[in-house]
Amino acid sequence: MSEDIIYSAIIDEHYEEPRNFGKIENPDENIMETNPTCGDTIAMYLKLGDGKIRDIKYVANGCLISVASASILSERVKGKDVDYVLNMNKKDILSYLGLELGPAREKCALLSYDALIKMLKNYKEENSGQ
Ligand code: FES
Repeated sequence: MSEDIIYSAIIDEHYEEPRNFGKIENPDENIMETNPTCGDTIAMYLKLGDGKIRDIKYVANGCLISVASASILSERVKGKDVDYVLNMNKKDILSYLGLELGPAREKCALLSYDALIKMLKNYKEENSGQ
């Protein structure tokens, strides 16, 4: 079995059973992000406290890669320090998927990451004076 097939099974599994899927009532941050190339969307919600991501949920309306990457990302960042997550880069996120992707599919894979980073930057700005 090739590496690609193993990794695809992981992505399939996250698509079939996405982790942390859903909404958070009264989130500290929320956002709706759209992939401009296809119009697919992800709504993402965060609970934050003591500089950490206490909870993360999302409702993704997109392709297999966008849903699977949101699921994998949510598992990776839940409970982590905001600063730690802000220091993750796009290469880290793509490496979690373990696939080589072309530019169009990269946008799918990074939709949830882009949404998350925007919210965390916003949170930092809002709390910078405290
Ligand atoms: Fe729309 Fe992947 S094709 S997010």
